[in-house]
Formats: sequence, structure tokens, C-alpha cells
Amino acid sequence: MKLPLFAAAWLAAAALCSAPLRAAEPASPRQRDRMDLNWRFHAGDILQPGASAVERSIIAEWKMRPVAQGIDADPAHMAATALDSSGAEWSTARTGDDIFHGRIGFAWMRAPLPALPAGTTPQSAVLRFDSVDDACTIYLNGQRLLVHTGWSDAFDVALAPAWRSDGPNVLAVLVENTDGGGGITGPVAYSKQTQPTMTSGPAAERFDDRTWAKVDVPHDYVVGAAFDPATDPNHGFKPMGIGWYRKQFALPASDRGKRLLLEFDGIYRDSQVWLNGHFLGRHQSGYTSFAYDITDAARPGSVNTIAVRADASRPEGWWYEGGGIYRHVYLTHTSLVHVAHWGTFFSSSLPEPGADGRADAATVTGRITLQNEGSAPAECRVTSRLLDSNGHEAGTLEARATVSAGGSAEVPASAQVANPQLWSLETPRLYRAITSITVDGKLVDRVETTFGIRTIRFDANLGFFLNGKSVKIKGTCNHQDMAGIGIAMPDRVLNFRIRKLKEMASNGYRCSHNPPAVELLDECDRQGMLVMDENRKLGDSSEILGQVTTLVLRDRNHPSIMMWSMCNEEGLQGTEVGGKMFAAMKQTVLGLDTTRPISCAMNGGWGKGITLVEDLQGCNYGEGGYDAFHAQFPNLPMYGSETASTVTSRGEFGDDATRGYVTELHSTDHSWKPIAEKPFMAGSFVWTGFDYRGEPSPYRWPCVNSHFGIMDTCGFPKENWWYYQAWWGEKPMVHVPQWTRTGQEGKPLTVRVFSNCDEVELFVNGASQGRKPMERNGHLDWQVTYAPGALEAKGYRGGQAIVTDRSETAGAATQITFTPDATRLVADREDVGIVAVELRDAKGRIVPTAANDVVFTLTGPGKIVGVGNGDPSSHEADKTSHRSAFHGRCMVIVQTTDRTGTITLTATSPGLSPARLTLQSARASALTVSR
Ligand code: GAL
Repeated sequence: MKLPLFAAAWLAAAALCSAPLRAAEPASPRQRDRMDLNWRFHAGDILQPGASAVERSIIAEWKMRPVAQGIDADPAHMAATALDSSGAEWSTARTGDDIFHGRIGFAWMRAPLPALPAGTTPQSAVLRFDSVDDACTIYLNGQRLLVHTGWSDAFDVALAPAWRSDGPNVLAVLVENTDGGGGITGPVAYSKQTQPTMTSGPAAERFDDRTWAKVDVPHDYVVGAAFDPATDPNHGFKPMGIGWYRKQFALPASDRGKRLLLEFDGIYRDSQVWLNGHFLGRHQSGYTSFAYDITDAARPGSVNTIAVRADASRPEGWWYEGGGIYRHVYLTHTSLVHVAHWGTFFSSSLPEPGADGRADAATVTGRITLQNEGSAPAECRVTSRLLDSNGHEAGTLEARATVSAGGSAEVPASAQVANPQLWSLETPRLYRAITSITVDGKLVDRVETTFGIRTIRFDANLGFFLNGKSVKIKGTCNHQDMAGIGIAMPDRVLNFRIRKLKEMASNGYRCSHNPPAVELLDECDRQGMLVMDENRKLGDSSEILGQVTTLVLRDRNHPSIMMWSMCNEEGLQGTEVGGKMFAAMKQTVLGLDTTRPISCAMNGGWGKGITLVEDLQGCNYGEGGYDAFHAQFPNLPMYGSETASTVTSRGEFGDDATRGYVTELHSTDHSWKPIAEKPFMAGSFVWTGFDYRGEPSPYRWPCVNSHFGIMDTCGFPKENWWYYQAWWGEKPMVHVPQWTRTGQEGKPLTVRVFSNCDEVELFVNGASQGRKPMERNGHLDWQVTYAPGALEAKGYRGGQAIVTDRSETAGAATQITFTPDATRLVADREDVGIVAVELRDAKGRIVPTAANDVVFTLTGPGKIVGVGNGDPSSHEADKTSHRSAFHGRCMVIVQTTDRTGTITLTATSPGLSPARLTLQSARASALTVSR
């Protein structure tokens, strides 16, 4: 059977990554198992006896004084214990009050702390702030204890460094407001330093979870809930909350004496994890990967139980964030002496290639971190064999190191690679390093690392260079959800989304505003897409620096990543404090990777604060200021970290506030033109590639989605898709919109045409509407009178018509058709078929006015896991087996089971002839797919 081209490419890329090892190579003692299947899930919390959800505030009233410039207000004076705050410039505010009422700026709040609760000491007690909106700096007795950014999450402040046992203890909080209301919006309470843990109920080993739902992960427990207008618009009007997961798994007796690491790629969010009733830890960030060493708590030769509590009730961002174990879970078994988690880093140095884009040689440097969990020092031999993209030997790195008992060591080594195959956007060639560790001649560990060899350079006047070639970054920003499935993205969906962006001629992906799934980076590596990898928040607390460490350690081998971003639009971005925090983050990155510039996305404060310490200036919007900034900072490379925010609803040609739709005629040229025309701008990232749930702008209910996408939530293109394809791509093209405007007969309407030709001529029913020159990076509009029939455009270059596009008025819908993204799937309970559904007339033309409800049925080893139609105001369920079409299209996602065979999908709707499709589900080995 002939595979669709893209499926064949995907399989080929996957096959390359599984080139065989040398036959004589012994099996690695390391084993890494996916733990995605067979979880039990319970929605909502199961409260423990004695656990209280909300603590009472120990401070009810504050003395409050607004200040214009927080950092200018002298903290030494304002936070001092002895300051008299009885004067008229001070007023009274209560905990929970909005003290800003929309004013953007700062305010000091002061209050004495009561005595510590009996049985606690300044060392064991912390002050827990439930929420301070938006950011704050906390002082005790005049001493700065902590800076916190983020308006909604609870945080703890250790008291010991400034506590006076003879009192008084005066707390001073400098609160910053960047938008809307703000203040100390939640209780402030004493709390024990240790994190609360539960060892009974669902955390306990013997809890009876048989009534819980059976689920596999990736899983999103928020996406299935009904839309509720009383819930947060930014989170897509879906109630967020708590979820519990449990999973039993057997460990072989042969695991005795091994080290066991339980890895979570991502849990949204604030998770607590137990193994066999033992508390392993708490991890708040919903976006960073983390792992627990479970060697001591695990029982080899027996059944073990993992329990996870995820609490998604507090947001980290202002978009749909979902909830649950939404990325993969792994269990890694290693010897006592082994490569550390994320413990390999391969980078390369080579002279920048010239015009031929080639290099004679590259030096590949490896940094391998070894860990010895045994009781005697280990003499280790480290060998990394480098294999090129064809599986041919390309060099070997060798080193020896002694690792002390219980210690770790980073072992450097390097090798020359002759005629390296460079990673580029057109030919994204990847190398693999097979790193083996032997002790006394015995193999103790072997790991495989994928990396690439390429040069990157940002020039302050000429922009970005990849392998010596100037490349304008034509990027999009994206959140991580999709129609039908929310944030629980099977790997195939990530492959699909990157492919859709490449089809549009995009070459850049900004992971806004958080680190993505690892598999997304793998796709960018394989498909040739530059990545701006982003940390969630600005800060220099150990927690935030820990997140930066995770980001860089986990991701630094990916050749697609060409810059690190520390944060987005932070309130402190243009301040001295913000600059200091950024410097600490940058220092953290540089300790782990010196090969990429460090940047962030700023929407103000340019030229101050962070600008003074970062390597690249990211500008969110503000295109009018690019020239002035460049003149002031001629040595700082610049790029548009966020641009456009153009709102359009697929298929709509008028704004409609009641139904929550925006016209396709909103243009995006103003944001791309200055980037395209200014050589010093390295490129930009459009907000956004795909629509996402939540942040419904410019409307609210009934709209539940953003409209910023160049594609909708299903990946169907909107009109501006062709604008980008015209000016980002190289192939000559012309595009006309659909021509079924029922009810508009005889009325004037605007026809917008996209093309990269010199001139375009438009025809309505064969009659020329005029030929117009096409402005570079622009579009063309014609005012015409609508008459059903045909709309046609011809694109001319050098006076010759070289491309044509044509739309015909569709008749009534008579049939349903399917367009699958792939027809050969892996029988692994994860892989999916993403199937576009179109309603067509008798002549096969898509009917843009069709909104019929389509019912899906499925037989064979598969199930329907989600449906969507890209309608930003649809309140239909995602987790069901029918969907109405939106402008003639909808989508169904089919997931495999672990059985092989033929999956048959059918679509029916009254009055339409049905569609039928077969998908083959086979073992990965039969498809030569390796994950
Ligand atoms: C930006 C912000 C994005 C999104 C966008 C909407 O300022 O960084 O997260 O909110 O605005 O236009």
C-alpha cells in the first residue's frame, strides 16, 4: 500500500533513529520502561482526616502606602522595624483587599507578626502567603527575605534569617501590580517547614481503587469537563481541580541491587507522589520534568504502587493549562555506577561554513556525568561512539575517571568528526552518541544521545545565521493543547503540528511560555525547525533556578534549540531587580551550556533592567520602536519574540460579538513587514501558530478559545495561513477565499487575495476585476459584487501568468469525506490517527456553510479519543463520538489499542452519504517505527 508522503517521511525519520548497534555489543544494563499504561484515576480530592483546606490568616490588617516607583522607594527606610506608619500617608488595608483598583505600580504594606505557634521555632516555622497579586518583595525587620513573582500561587518565606526572639517582628511587603486589581489577596499563615504529606487514604499502598476509572497517560482530566460560564475564561471556561492517579506494577527480583528512577515528563500541576505509601516528594511546576530515586522505597520481586495527587486548581498562566499526568512516565533501571539522569551533553565547535555550507571538520565535545551509588570508588572507562545520520561511525570520544563512592563526576572528552553532516532546516541530519561505561572491563551502563552539528550566530546588524547562511526566523509561538485531547498529546500529534507549521513555510517555534514535551523538541530536530525554548518565570529563588537547570539539562542536546528564553512579559523586566534576577538565571544556564544566547520576551522596559544583561533583545510587539532601539543599542541583536496577535475565526467574514467570531479580513501584514524589511531584525514569532483554548480575546463567553492562531485548534488553516505561505515560502502562489457567500447575492464584498507574484488579476465568473501590482509582504483587496459561480485569481511574474487559484460556489452538502493524516498506526495504545472530516457537495466541493452534526462509529482495535471543529464558540464536548461541522469541516482523533488489525471508521449524518476509512494498526517493528 502506498503511504502518504508525510507518513513515509515520519517512518523514515524514525527508522533512521533506530539504526542497529554493532552485533557484538552486549545488552545495556540500563533499561528504560514507559509507564504510561494501566493507571487508575479519580477526579477530585479525597480529603484526609484533620486536613484543612484553607488556613486562617494571622494578619487581618495592614498599614498601606502607595508608591509610584517600587524600586525607587528606599527599602532600608520603608521596611525598617522602627518606621512610624501612623502618619496620614499611611492608610489601613485588609488581607484580601484589592488595594490597586487598576492602578499599575507599587505599594508598601506593613504589619507586626504575632508570636510563633507553640511547639515551633523560627527554624521550623515558615510564613505561607496564599497569594500576592502580582509580585512582591518580602522584608522582615528590614532584611530582604524573598522576591516572588506570580499572582496566584502560594509560597513560603523562611523566617529564621531575620527573626528576633525578643521581638517585635515587623513584616514589610512591597507589592507590585502590573494589571487589573492586586494586593495581598489571600491569607498569610504560619506553617511548618516540612511539606504536608499524607500517608493514608489514596496515598496508602492498600487503598482500594477498584472503582476508579481506568486510564492511560498522557491524560488531561480537565478537557472532558463541561464548559461553565462561571469559571475562569483564561482557562477556557473549564473547571480546574484536583485529580488522583494510582498504578500498580511488578518489579522483577533481578532489580535487587539496581538503582531505580521514576521519571515524570510533566504533571499539571503541584503534584505529590508516593511509592508503596512512602512520600517521594512534591513538585509544583506543571511544566518541568522531574524524577524520584525510588530504589529504597521500591520492592523488587513484588507488586509496587504509585500514587499521585495533582492539584490544578491554581493556574500558572493565563491560558488553558489542563490537569493531570499529561506527559510520559518512565522507570529507569541502572547499575550502581551509571550515567546521571540527563547526564550527557554533546556540543560541537567548527569554523562557520562559507557559501558552500560545508565544513571540513568539527570538534565534538562530550560532558558525561557519572554517578557512583556503590560503596567503593569506581575506575570508569567512558567511550562515546558517534554515528552519523546513516548509522556510519563518525568518531569516538574516550576518557577515564575515578568516581568516589557515593560521588559523581563530570567527564569531558572530545573527538574530531571529518566532513560533518550539518543539521539544517532543509536537511536536519542528526548524530547519535552511544556512550558506554565500563568498570574493570565490564559494561555497567550504555546510553544513547541524539545531537546535531551546526553553527548558530546572531549578528546585531544582519540577524541570524545557521551554518553561515543568513536565515530570517519565521516563527510562531504556541501553547500545548489541541482540539479533542487538551494537553494530553500523543507523540504523533506533536509530529502533526510541527508538520503543519512547516507546510506553511514556518521555520521557528517558540515554546510559550514554558518548556515543552521532549518529543516536541525531537520533532523539531527531525523536521528542521528552530526552537526558542522558554522557562516559565523570572526569578532567582532556588525553585526558579532549579527550573532553569532542568530546562537546560534536559534540552541542551537538541540542535533545533537556538536560544534559551528565561521568561515572558515579567512585571520586573525593566527594573534593576529584574536585571539582577535575570543575571542569576543566566549564570545558571552558563554553568550548563555556553553554546546558545540567553534571552527573554519583553513587552516594555526595553533598554533597562533585563536588556542590560541579556544576549538578545526579544520584543513582544512594539514594531514602531525597533529602529530607535537598534540605534540606541547597535550591538544588541534583536528579534520579535511575539508579534501580530491577529484575531480571526476560520470561515467567518464579519465580526460578530454576540456569537464571538472575528472576521478573516483582519490583516497581519503590519507585524511581518518591519521584520522582513529590517535586516537587523533576526526574525519573529507570530502569536500564535494554532488557536488554543482559553484567553478568549477579544470576546468572552460564548467564546471559549483564543482566535490568534494562523490555524484553528484542529490545525485547519485560516485565510492568513496563505499570507505566511506567500511571504515565508519560496514557491510562487496565489490564493483566493471560498466563494459560497449565501445571502450576499448582489451585495458588495471584499475579496482578499494572497500571493507572492508581481501582479495579480481577479476574475468573478470570468469577468476581470482588474490586475494589480502586489506589494511585497502585503495582500490585495478587491471590492466586488457577489454572484455565485467562480472566483479566480491569476498570479503574474515578468508579465506571464504562472499560478492560478479558483473557488467555486458549492451546492448543498451531499456527502462526507475523510482525509486521514496517516493510515498506518502503531498498536501501542498511544498512537493516533488524526482524521479531517469534510462535508462536500455532489461535485466534491467543500461546503463552507455546512454545519451538519456528524456521527462517528468505529470497529476494530481502536477508539475515538476526541473530536473538534475549530469553532471558538462551540460548547460541544471533546470526548464524544459526534461533532457538528464548522464551515464544512470537523475532526476526529482515533487511538489504537494494543491489538493489531484493521480499524474501520465511519461517519454518518442524516441526508448525506457516509464516509468510510480503514486504518491499519500494527506492531512498531512491522512499521520500522522506533520511539
Ligand atoms: C501577550 C502575551 C501572550 C498573550 C498575548 C495575547 O502579551 O505574552 O501570552 O496573552 O499577549 O495577545
